[in-house]
Amino acid sequence: MSTDTVTTIEPLRSPLKGIATVPGDKSISHRAVLFSAMAEGTSRLSGVLDSKDVRSSMDAVAQLGAKVDLAPQGDGSLAGTVEGWGQKGPMQPDSPIDCGNSGTTVRLLMGILAPWPITVTLTGDSSLQRRPMRRITAPLMKMGAKFAPAGQELLPITETGSSALKPIVYDAPMASAQLKTAVLLAGVFAKGTTTVNEPAPSRNHTELMLPEFGVPTTAASRTASVTGPCRMEASSVHVPGDPSSAAFLVAAALMKPGSSIVVRDVSLNPARIGFLRTLERMGADVRETHEGQEGKEPNGSIAATYTPVLRGCEVPAQHIASLIDEIPVLALVAAHAHGVTVFKEVSELRVKETNRLKAIIDGLALLGVDAWEEGNNLLVEGNPHLQVPAGLVFDSQGDHRLAMTWALAGLCGHTSVGIRDFDCVAVSYPGFLDDIKNLEA
Ligand code: S3P
Repeated sequence: MSTDTVTTIEPLRSPLKGIATVPGDKSISHRAVLFSAMAEGTSRLSGVLDSKDVRSSMDAVAQLGAKVDLAPQGDGSLAGTVEGWGQKGPMQPDSPIDCGNSGTTVRLLMGILAPWPITVTLTGDSSLQRRPMRRITAPLMKMGAKFAPAGQELLPITETGSSALKPIVYDAPMASAQLKTAVLLAGVFAKGTTTVNEPAPSRNHTELMLPEFGVPTTAASRTASVTGPCRMEASSVHVPGDPSSAAFLVAAALMKPGSSIVVRDVSLNPARIGFLRTLERMGADVRETHEGQEGKEPNGSIAATYTPVLRGCEVPAQHIASLIDEIPVLALVAAHAHGVTVFKEVSELRVKETNRLKAIIDGLALLGVDAWEEGNNLLVEGNPHLQVPAGLVFDSQGDHRLAMTWALAGLCGHTSVGIRDFDCVAVSYPGFLDDIKNLEA
């Protein structure tokens, strides 16, 4: 929930130097918890992100009968076990499931609940209650799940599953891993092959992790299928660091003179590191080193060094899904570059935790930077001599990625900034400020 508290973010006193790690990947953490809950037996998880969003998934599956025993490890991660409901299915909860701020929790749950004959009301906080759900309920209705009120876009929504789900071939109208995953998870229990085709590749953590839980999955660029019905078996998952969190440290190093850092043990899944491709095109001194795999997820480290001269670039529509959560911070970096940066076809930004398209434009305007929409494109006119004006207060609107983006304007500049409701960073990266400060030379 959004508050009026303003947190003052002071400029960093010295350049960022050294080695950092970031907490576990949020998307992979959700999937590890949710898939474990669906499986027969006890899964062992480690490196799980301890954040509000992931706790929404943990609480939801506990309400549905999974036994969640994950404990803080003192480093921002959770480890332990999840005993799933397996073949007996989730139990009928006696109250609505509140998914908090977490779009991934509610949308994936809709797919998970679809094959089971129980009736569950799903809701969330005021931000989640404004986000579109029909993109998920529409394909699940084709498979046989029922939603009430029928055809409703916004939470709360009540779902009644069906034990006779039909497989479908679904051409998704947008590149969304949440939509793809919801349909595939329902498909695990439908008789036959369920396929999702996408207009552009979205993150593929589901396709990579489902086989680890005993679900044969076929996947290629822009298409993924499962053949059901399948028995999901418990597994072990170690969650690698979150590249979306690393992106904030990388951007800070690029903007703070004299900085040079390495972020270690981070997922280098190509579907997630589009921000590095964009930064390279801007001329930024960034480099990734592949060091191995966590399960099927490639991981390694990312090095970033202060780059005084950056240039604007065009980010093609096909690449947007691979950097969708990084557009706020990339827009801030673009604000420091020579020339215009164009992010093509970013209409999905309008339906994130806030309308991020508008929030980016408004926040950059406070900084004196021209940014505007042209159709569904976002344009940012950079200013290499950008100086943050004194006395600015940014409104995060309760959106974690906006809070961290505007914090970087204060951290990397010469004057402090205020951030309204900065505490919402706990949704994905509770230790954000500590991690940045620990890198101060
Ligand atoms: C996510 C998918 C993306 C992303 C979100 C996490 C996931 O959303 O923005 O933060 O874990 O599947 P969409 O599926 O709506 O693109």
